[in-house]
Amino acid sequence: MLERLLLPEKHAIAILLKDHDTVKELFDKFEKAKSGNEKEHIIQSALTELKIHAALEEEIFYPTVRAHVGSDLMNEADEEHHVARVLIAELDRGRHGDDHRFAKFTVLSESVRHHIKEEEDEMLPKAKDVKVDFKALGERMLQRKTELHERGVPPDAEHAMVAAAGGQADTPARAARRRRSPLGAKGARRQQSAKTLQRRRPKRNSR
Ligand SMILES: [Fe+2]
Ligand SMILES: [Fe+2]
Repeated sequence: MLERLLLPEKHAIAILLKDHDTVKELFDKFEKAKSGNEKEHIIQSALTELKIHAALEEEIFYPTVRAHVGSDLMNEADEEHHVARVLIAELDRGRHGDDHRFAKFTVLSESVRHHIKEEEDEMLPKAKDVKVDFKALGERMLQRKTELHERGVPPDAEHAMVAAAGGQADTPARAARRRRSPLGAKGARRQQSAKTLQRRRPKRNSR
């Protein structure tokens, strides 16, 4: 277990733990949110937080602790990041009003909660014994975090993969739409776009 309260604020592990708490709070808020707009707002904040957190870990923290923590745990973490990145890329490409959007975000949040638990229960307790200046590492992470907030995150392979599939890579969602709609998949997509357009169109003043 991690003695999180004993870590100094700029310790690299304390920074990761704080990020974890931030995204878990956003997931809790999403579950409690009543309106679609509120949920969408939370999705946007969570996606930004997750992308920046993943970049900090992949660029700085994971390479520093990988050899000490061992390839079993680290490879699993890499794969969990990959799965999360695919869902994030689909959510970035998707639109407010897509019928599977909130379900997709819920699955992302469940998967990230699982990943956070593994990091906090297994990876980080091992990583804290690495012979490295964790405060200096934390400073580097905070500096990179500021850069990522200002300039945006670098493009990833998962966004390219989802873009290459032209939004057609979600087989179960497509099949469900096809089965539901008497018009078939194309018709279901057209209906979906029409609904989204309707939602976006400003309401006319009835006076
Ligand atoms: Fe991670
Ligand atoms: Fe993490």
